Amino acid sequence: MIIAVDGPTASGKGTIAKALAAHFGLPHLDTGLLYRAVGRQVQLNGGDPDHAEQALAACDFPVDLLDDDTLRSEEVGGFASRVSVHPGVRGALYERQRAFALQDGGAVLDGRDIGTVIAPEAPVKLFITASVAERARRRWLEMTGRGIVVPLAAIEHDIAARDARDMGRKDAPLTAAADALVLDTTHFDRDQAIEAAIEAVQARIG
Ligand code: C5P
Repeated sequence: MIIAVDGPTASGKGTIAKALAAHFGLPHLDTGLLYRAVGRQVQLNGGDPDHAEQALAACDFPVDLLDDDTLRSEEVGGFASRVSVHPGVRGALYERQRAFALQDGGAVLDGRDIGTVIAPEAPVKLFITASVAERARRRWLEMTGRGIVVPLAAIEHDIAARDARDMGRKDAPLTAAADALVLDTTHFDRDQAIEAAIEAVQARIG
């Protein structure tokens, strides 16, 4: 069984995807990490994430970069969002994601285009969302917890910009697949969101 979990940044899709993988005993791939690795590699190369060829060259990142803590930073998230608009980059990362989705026994993948491009045949598709204000609040709490001081308004501005870029790009824009179940977690805490997602998957698979 392939479970596709898509949604905008800080919607809770990563947490939900991990919980679904644990609950249903499936392997999980956070596809955002691949784009973050490309973004980070461009940075390490001293390149420009808006330059298609420089971004494509960074798709050859070493595999251990995926374990690097710097990938989680807001700065690298912004670079990831910029490299991800290039069709060449999306193409270079396609096979790896597709192979993960098609492995025997199934898988859970989370990202932006899993239900629309990577695994459109997935029998279960969730689109996780929440208001920009709530997603900014969550990100702010998470960063404050890590000792990073950033004004809430700056995070809100950053999230809105990332949404606009992810939804507005020509190739594989962030959008819910026609057959995706949309889960708005604005008024849910972590456990409620996970519970709602498990129930939604169970209802879909019968
Ligand atoms: O999910 P995460 O915030 O780690 O993703 C970082 C960026 O990578 C996103 O803002 C998006 O631009 C890009 N991305 C994508 N397609 C995916 C996963 C992530 O374009 N499947």
